[in-house]
Amino acid sequence: MRDRPTLRAATRGRVLFGGDYNPEQWPEETWHDDVRLMKDAGVNSVTLGVFSWSMLEPEPGERNFGWLDRLMDLMHTNGVGVVLATPTSAPPPWLGRLHPDTLPRDENGNVEWWGGRQHFSHSSATYRRYAAAITEDLAARYAGHPALTMWHINNEYCTVDHGDEAAAAFRRWLRAKYGTLDALNEAWGTAFWSQGYDSWDGILPARRPHYLRNPTQLLDFRRFTSDMLLECYTAERDIVTRHTPHIPVTTNFMPLFFGQDAWRWAEEEDVVSVDLYPDPRDPLGPQHGALIQDLTRSQARGPWMLMEQAAGPVNWRGVNHPKPRGLNRLWSLQAVARGADAVCYFQWRQSRQGAEKFHSGMVSHAGEEGRTFQEVKQLGADLAAISPKVADRRVTADIAILHDWHAWWAGSQDGRPSTHVDHAAVLHAWHRALWEAHLPTDFAHPEHDLTAYRLVVVPQLYLLTDTAIDRLRAYVDGGGTLVSGFLTGVADEHDRVRAGGMDARLRELFGIRVLHEWWPLEPGESVDCDGFRGTLWSEEIEPDRETVTETIPYRGGELDGLPAVLRRGRAWYVSTLPEPDALRALLTRVAAEAGARPVLDGLPARVEAVRRGDLLFLLNHSREPVTVDVPGTHRDLLTGATVTDTVALGRYGAAVLEP
Ligand code: GAL
Repeated sequence: MRDRPTLRAATRGRVLFGGDYNPEQWPEETWHDDVRLMKDAGVNSVTLGVFSWSMLEPEPGERNFGWLDRLMDLMHTNGVGVVLATPTSAPPPWLGRLHPDTLPRDENGNVEWWGGRQHFSHSSATYRRYAAAITEDLAARYAGHPALTMWHINNEYCTVDHGDEAAAAFRRWLRAKYGTLDALNEAWGTAFWSQGYDSWDGILPARRPHYLRNPTQLLDFRRFTSDMLLECYTAERDIVTRHTPHIPVTTNFMPLFFGQDAWRWAEEEDVVSVDLYPDPRDPLGPQHGALIQDLTRSQARGPWMLMEQAAGPVNWRGVNHPKPRGLNRLWSLQAVARGADAVCYFQWRQSRQGAEKFHSGMVSHAGEEGRTFQEVKQLGADLAAISPKVADRRVTADIAILHDWHAWWAGSQDGRPSTHVDHAAVLHAWHRALWEAHLPTDFAHPEHDLTAYRLVVVPQLYLLTDTAIDRLRAYVDGGGTLVSGFLTGVADEHDRVRAGGMDARLRELFGIRVLHEWWPLEPGESVDCDGFRGTLWSEEIEPDRETVTETIPYRGGELDGLPAVLRRGRAWYVSTLPEPDALRALLTRVAAEAGARPVLDGLPARVEAVRRGDLLFLLNHSREPVTVDVPGTHRDLLTGATVTDTVALGRYGAAVLEP
């Protein structure tokens, strides 16, 4: 086992600043202009080669490294480190043409052709062979290059494949998991609808059936897909680490991406990195950013890398809004506040051709005079100013929000009580309540050790393993406070509904005697509760009057008088989704009782406060200037000014205060 290098091996105590650099799209004269502008903006890191496979290997087996040699040298001469990517997310057209077996198939069996990107089958032996070969040669060639700071494997692994080679791989994966067909039939509940398998060969990946799929088959297929993509990643990782054990390796996650068990993946990375694109028009954009940043920091268990963000508009929403003046800087500082040691973009120079030519770059079509680049320069200076101070400071939290991909996958099947219950939206709603209350949060997996937290929050974990349930109980027995939302603990790891509709140990924990029925709500419908309104969902619960210590009842309607919220000691259960203000009020109260404190009290609306070590980041997410009370004397690292008792923040303004 190698000693894993950390992000620090690449940052060397600075905040990395830069982005995806795709110079192969430009004549070489432009490269020199790029370098001039990079220096001007304080760029110290670029990611090269993400989509360069057809440049590196124009024909099967041929190698064309000359251009990359020149670029690596150019970057090094100019003090810019290189995060070097394996190019395997965009195979060249010849691969699909000569080897159609490398192309993935959708659930209808249709081929996903070349002409875009990510058209590879994770299960294809041919794809894996070519991917390994180019990775091997790239790693051998640049292993000793002084510009190399990190490896970036592939890009946003996400392909799903229902083809024949994937089917064979799925069967192998299932055999390893279940051993016997009897065990599989039992786990999948194949007695339902005559699905009993008499041969492994009869099992298909989750291709489109006539009507609802077997949900456990689908759950296992999602697990399998995540595992197969992970195998592709680890195969390439193992090649590069053989050449350069001291160079850290990452692969970039999409934010809260459905298809990857990111807890599991993060264990295989030296550096956890994420791509983050909140909508500039969305009033909750900064909360989405905070959620992804909290999640990524928790997966990294320390410093993490913002691999991609946009300096201006993206090009993949219906309407793509630019970032108003100041917002790029503000959201970048937010990432640093929440533990990022790298602030990077897709991409350096906005393309003039290709599918993403209307996606912004750090240098936009407007060029160096453009506002985008001018703001990038400002940010580069800001990051340089705070860099020496942030490197060794960590973000800590007393509250953990639990999230698990397996619960998300299992809960997202067809044929469920309400298709309006969206796991990610529920997660956002609960995180929002804590974010708006300025309560710092980590994320954790339900089987993690939770004892360090004062409060554990479960927005929704439809599926919980026995181990996780035991953990939650032990956590409360050990003095922890737990708040759980609805549709939690319903199913076991095979998506079998637990007796009583919710695990008996959890019902006991929360003081639920009988869970009679779920009463999902229509979109826009609400249900009155004592003091607030519930949305999305409600439940007909008979509490255990012997053990429950507090309830907040539903008012009126079918559930009148039954508990919407019930509590047994330090364990709380919330059977609806309270409106945002009510959920915030409830969690603020529970957090206070558990001893979890907000970062600051009395903050103006839309001002976010985050502590990274003893540095206090204040972020004004509004266009209105504000004044924030900060008792005592501090130094603002962004301006160098001394601040006493109050600090003024302009539109989208920020301060980084050192005591
Ligand atoms: C990311 C991807 C980049 C670019 C970007 C556009 O998903 O990794 O290559 O496509 O989105 O927002």
